[in-house]
Amino acid sequence: MENIIIEGGHPLKGEVKIGGSKNAALPILISALLTDGWNTYHNVPDLKDIQSIKLLLSTLGAKIETDGDTVRIAADGLCNYEAPYDLVRKMRASILVLGPLVARLKKARVSLPGGCAIGARPINLHLKGLARLGASIDLKHGYVEASANRLKGNEIYFDIATVTGTENLMMAAVLAEGMTVLRNSAREPEVVALAETLNQMGANIKGAGTSIISIEGVTSLHPVSVSIIPDRIESGTFMTAAALTQGNVRLLECEPEHNEAVIHKLKLAGADIKIEGQSIWVKGPDEIASIDIKTLPYPGFPTDMQAQFMVLMSVAKGLSIISETIFENRFIHVSELKRMGADITISGNFAMIKGVPALSGAPVMATDLRASASLIMAGLIAKGVTEVSRIYHLDRGYEAIEKKLAGLGAAIKRVKA
Ligand code: EPZ
Repeated sequence: MENIIIEGGHPLKGEVKIGGSKNAALPILISALLTDGWNTYHNVPDLKDIQSIKLLLSTLGAKIETDGDTVRIAADGLCNYEAPYDLVRKMRASILVLGPLVARLKKARVSLPGGCAIGARPINLHLKGLARLGASIDLKHGYVEASANRLKGNEIYFDIATVTGTENLMMAAVLAEGMTVLRNSAREPEVVALAETLNQMGANIKGAGTSIISIEGVTSLHPVSVSIIPDRIESGTFMTAAALTQGNVRLLECEPEHNEAVIHKLKLAGADIKIEGQSIWVKGPDEIASIDIKTLPYPGFPTDMQAQFMVLMSVAKGLSIISETIFENRFIHVSELKRMGADITISGNFAMIKGVPALSGAPVMATDLRASASLIMAGLIAKGVTEVSRIYHLDRGYEAIEKKLAGLGAAIKRVKA
């Protein structure tokens, strides 16, 4: 086990390169299951979740080669249609193999992912959609067993605009017979990146990025070479950290238009932000203004930035309200932030944050990926030393974050617990 130790009070200054998007890379690597031949993926981040999905794909019989941030995958030898519990429970996005396996091997046996720290996270909409395409679905012994001779296109309506639900059904539908229309689809950039990848493989998908996506099934796909889009949550995290520490940071290799909601809110909080092509320059304000945020599906303010923004508001001037509308239990970081002196009151899915002059360093424990990022950020400004434990949560979604922060002048290091 490892911890991260931070000594607060050092403004972030300099340049940082943003990595490839975890939430785009996961479905795109899995889409290799849909075809024979070698697919090449560039700008793949080196994260625990990426290692987990590569392990799962190889247990299914895919061949995988990794060379730095380039990953090559060939699924010619697909021989196993079972995604076991001990892999799926570690990384719930593994459920994304369900659609491709039924589409390619006509059957799949995938462990139910179970809940996680931030909520129950059911997959009922994934299963309802697959049934609409003609798959027979059985839930047995904690596994989903799905099968279909050939999936048939159909109209699918999502009660909630589910990101991985949209991605799972998109991958199931590309080889189905006839037309599928997904309504109330997620509009996230990662959904668009997957659709563009599938279309380069020979699929026929229209409307990705809107709430109505149509997919004309084809009989086969061919391998592809693509580059993963930048991680908008990593860039949002670094932008917020720059604002928080009264820093002066230029983020390189971003996609600014994917961060519009976060940039808008940071400007309201007083940050000076300039967009220069694929770079975003952020200068933190002397005094942070308190503002309200409400998490919403894209293009609204991302739930994956809620914990990070809460840290900014914890030392803002005045009272701010954060409402978390996506997950039912995504305030776990609050109790740890309060131990560092934050003044936060929770009522249902609302958090009221009264800005305090400063946080104080303390030993704290990470509980989930984005909560751990918020604790690191709190340590950057807290008076004294903060030690964050259970940082394996952090390594799931941030590549060497302590190295990147140290490169920007933070006093931060990783130690053996
Ligand atoms: C994706 O999770 C992301 N993960 C999450 O990022 C992100 O927080 C989330 O979308 C929302 O933006 C990946 O892309 C790998 P949802 P996903 O299905 O697809 C409910 C991170 O930190 N729902 O859009 O699992 C669900 O409970 C992670 O990188 C159902 O009820 O989220 C939630 O309340 C955390 N039934 C809401 O919909 C379903 O069948 C949105 O969930 C599916 C979802």
